Amino acid sequence: MVIAPSILSANFANLEKDIHVVEAGKVSYLHVDVMDGHFVPNITFGPSVVAAIRKVTKLTLDCHLMIENPENLIPEFAKAGGDILTIHVESTRHIFRALQLIHDNGAKAGIVLNPGTSLEAIKPVLSLVDQVLVMTVNPGFGGQKFIPEMVKKVADLKQIRDAGGYQFDIEVDGGINDKTIKLCSDAGANVFVAGSYVYGVDDPVKQIKTLENAVK
Ligand code: DX5
Ligand code: ZN
Repeated sequence: MVIAPSILSANFANLEKDIHVVEAGKVSYLHVDVMDGHFVPNITFGPSVVAAIRKVTKLTLDCHLMIENPENLIPEFAKAGGDILTIHVESTRHIFRALQLIHDNGAKAGIVLNPGTSLEAIKPVLSLVDQVLVMTVNPGFGGQKFIPEMVKKVADLKQIRDAGGYQFDIEVDGGINDKTIKLCSDAGANVFVAGSYVYGVDDPVKQIKTLENAVK
């Protein structure tokens, strides 16, 4: 299992420091939320910030691209050092091509669904992806409440993966805390994004340990 702290809840004026803080918690992933103000009603940062982050950490950069037509920027995010580029099935008319483009640029490819999008929408591309991200809040903001209906979606996805002999990781993102992580883990998720739960307190390392212990 992997905990992926989301720097959306970090201090943007002290990103390097806040990245080293979670490194001390021995995580292997850093979740990087890219928002364009179109696909979601919020703006964060682009490839230049990802490149700057790449220079200060060896953590796997798990880039969650909440942007319209991600194919326009996939080469830039790969060049910037994104290890996993996860794109929304709702964000492009050409999802197959966009996922191929991620692999062509040497990154791992993830697909993500909004809470209101059915698993049917991603079935045609499951053989192509390294990771499926199930949004457990509406994308755009940190600190929202976990949507409990998504637990069944994770369980259904796990069943589809096992029946189809696929290998992808199942990631959840949004409202993850010491209670919801267990629900998602029991349903089959193995990568857990946590933003406000990790960064919203004085001791992020302790929070990471609490999350790990909750699914042991
Ligand atoms: C929301 C982002 C999440 C966000 C999660 O659109 O995709 O990664 O950082 O934040 P929390 O863990 O606070 O719900
Ligand atoms: Zn995210």
